Amino acid sequence: MRLKALPGSLFALAIAGLPAAAAAQAPLAAEACLGCHGPDGKGVAGAAPIAGRDRAELVAIMVAFRANERPGTIMGRIARGYTDAEIAAMADHFSRIR
Ligand code: HEC
Repeated sequence: MRLKALPGSLFALAIAGLPAAAAAQAPLAAEACLGCHGPDGKGVAGAAPIAGRDRAELVAIMVAFRANERPGTIMGRIARGYTDAEIAAMADHFSRIR
């Protein structure tokens, strides 16, 4: 299966053209966010919604957390576990959720 050989970011691009139902499947990296930010990223008590927000804003926030430039209790440590490509793929995913 050729798709499985693609890196995560390319896979995210590959699913970008699919209908909403298919695109709603979280890419693997994004699943790690759902425990705190709600099953669809729309936020739960105490954790801000990350779904449906501007893609560039989500990337900027994650990069700032990773660089220790945005204050937070936990997100800095979380963001340091992700590459630029993974952050871009997650921002693609969450910005598409309505
Ligand atoms: C352990 C719980 C937890 C997990 C897992 C988690 N977050 Fe967060 N997130 C938080 C908390 C708490 C905040 C508030 C800032 C802080 O205290 O670090 C936050 C803040 C944010 C913000 C800023 C929201 C705003 O409006 O200020 C974004 C964007 C975000 N998280 C994205 C993500 C993404 C993407 C992932 C998956 C890689 C993720 N988070 C995983 C708990 C979590």
